[in-house]
Amino acid sequence: MAKICVIGSSSMDLVVTSARRPGAGETVLGDSFKTVPGGKGANQAVAAARLGADVSMIGRVGDDTFGTAILNNFKANGVNTQNVKPVTHLESGTAHIVLAEGDNSIVVVEAANREVTPAYVDEATEVIQRADIVLIQQEIPEETVVRVSEICAQSGTPLLLNPAPARKVPDEVIDKAAYITPNEHEAEILFQGMTPAEALRKYPNKLFITEGSNGVRYFDGEQEIVVPTYKVEPVDTTGAGDTFNAAFAVALAEGKPLQESIRFANRAASLSVTKFGAQGGMPTRDEVEESLK
Ligand code: RIB
Repeated sequence: MAKICVIGSSSMDLVVTSARRPGAGETVLGDSFKTVPGGKGANQAVAAARLGADVSMIGRVGDDTFGTAILNNFKANGVNTQNVKPVTHLESGTAHIVLAEGDNSIVVVEAANREVTPAYVDEATEVIQRADIVLIQQEIPEETVVRVSEICAQSGTPLLLNPAPARKVPDEVIDKAAYITPNEHEAEILFQGMTPAEALRKYPNKLFITEGSNGVRYFDGEQEIVVPTYKVEPVDTTGAGDTFNAAFAVALAEGKPLQESIRFANRAASLSVTKFGAQGGMPTRDEVEESLK
């Protein structure tokens, strides 16, 4: 069983659906409001667990009702929460999501996720070292991402960096990561002054640019390859990127070849958008295998 360690945010998603999103200074009437578990780190942990991996999460929640619900959700999905410790001085992270016109807009309040510090992660060094692959995103402090990249480099543990939400990533992290999975917008910020083609050539078999419904593009050392995605009728695209990253990590940790791993991840991500909520549509292993037949 693939051993995956996810280091990142755990949040509660407060989701409003409406026919259209309001402009600045405008009020619109919404259709519904729901509270569902989210946060990029937590989403990736849950997605990997549903795909059959042995998942340990390193994160933080507030000592509040959202924190309890987030922890219960991890447990219900079989994620090890030994290193998801409540903080008392900050509330749980929240994401304020408007689903309108077929897409989402999100404001994230990091709160307790700010306490996923380098010192906190150091306490769980062994979990990181024992993993087959480590997954990290950017809803936690940058210095923690740097620290994790150092731990992974020292122990030879492959690090998959999902640089979302977009911010510049220190060169040392780019060098130490085994896999980097920006979307097109994040890639522009990461590799300023380079075209996507130049960035892909600089990082063969390491940089994977996700291009939404177009698929995933990378350079295999000889040529650019686009692994196409699967067409579905989307209900909610929130969490599709998280499902992709988790499934990619699971497949790689199981030793699947690169293209097969991307296909597996594309299939999982396409299934994830067919239901409401970041985690609502995340598929089980059987569902992905079945739909790949
Ligand atoms: O990637 C999707 C996630 O981003 C949501 O669940 C929300 O929590 C935001 O952080």
